[in-house]
Amino acid sequence: MNRAKITGIGFHVPERVVTNQDLEKIMNTSDEWIKERSGITERHWVEEESNASILAIEAAKNAMVDAGITASDVDLVICATLTSDYFFPGISNQLQHALGMRKIGAFDIKAACSAFVYALSIGDQFIRTDQYKTILVVGAEVQSTALDLSDEGRNISVLFADGAGAAVLQTSNNETGILSTHLHSDGKYLKELWCEAPGTSNNPRLSKRILDEGKHLPYMNGREVYKNAIVRFPQVIQEALDTNNLTIDDVAQIIPHQANNRISEAVARRMGIGMDKVFSNIKYYGNTTAASIPIAMCDARDKGLYGPDDIIILAAFGAGFTWASAAIRW
Ligand code: ACO
Repeated sequence: MNRAKITGIGFHVPERVVTNQDLEKIMNTSDEWIKERSGITERHWVEEESNASILAIEAAKNAMVDAGITASDVDLVICATLTSDYFFPGISNQLQHALGMRKIGAFDIKAACSAFVYALSIGDQFIRTDQYKTILVVGAEVQSTALDLSDEGRNISVLFADGAGAAVLQTSNNETGILSTHLHSDGKYLKELWCEAPGTSNNPRLSKRILDEGKHLPYMNGREVYKNAIVRFPQVIQEALDTNNLTIDDVAQIIPHQANNRISEAVARRMGIGMDKVFSNIKYYGNTTAASIPIAMCDARDKGLYGPDDIIILAAFGAGFTWASAAIRW
């Protein structure tokens, strides 16, 4: 059975930096509250004319250069996003066309903050079975254009941001690569972190009532998310370690979805590990949902926190609720 190896990574964020001080001017919040509750000091939000596919294309280009491949080498495109340019088709079809790829398979997956790990797991299966040899996996989000900037939505709107990260998966010719992936969900918590519209639960799908009632804006029960995240992150990290007969001492870096620094710190405490082993860059990027892990992977590698033959664990928790992990020998 083949093993899938990540041979290249890349990311792209909008140039525009929005600081906590900027947010103080547009909503009733404070730099102090945001820093204390999330660890975020600034984030990147798109300018008027930009969207998820534009960020995704730039991240994909950077990852393909890093992998030393061209678009014509790619056999499959998987995009993880909640915020595609259009209701359908997805951004994966835009990438295939914009990057001049062959007429290959291309599809989006919607698994919120866990979607990049879900997409890696899907790509891994295609490579393990030798159906494909080179797969582009992209996480991309533009959250900033649909946030409730009123007091009602300020607990969520100070967290979310825009960005894209990408990875090239190729057949490994040695022991390095993806060792395992684990995917989980519990739909009981569907409405604790969700965006009700537009969707077919409303007929018609869009109406003035939906807009007036703000059903098109994301909602989060922060406490419920926190309570579940600090249980599921350790569980899915430990599952990855146990499956591969590893201990935390074998791991160079845990790279979690950048949900909220308080969550990452609570997870580290529960697992009895120092924050030196749990990567965090939410301070500068905010929560970019499906893009946060690949952006963090690029940042952590650039900081020399992992390299060839090191073990890294990717871990995610998000809407659904969903949670997932990937153990990788780099
Ligand atoms: N600025 C100032 N005050 C605020 C803000 C803000 N941005 N947001 C909320 N508040 C106020 C509220 O009005 C409330 O005031 P009150 O007690 O006088 O009514 C107080 O802060 C607490 O509000 P809550 O919404 O209950 O905020 P909470 O204490 O739960 O903290 C937070 C919110 C930081 C989100 C917390 O619930 C948390 O850390 N949750 C984890 C969830 C998370 O961070 N998710 C990330 C996205 S989902 C994901 O990626 C998995």
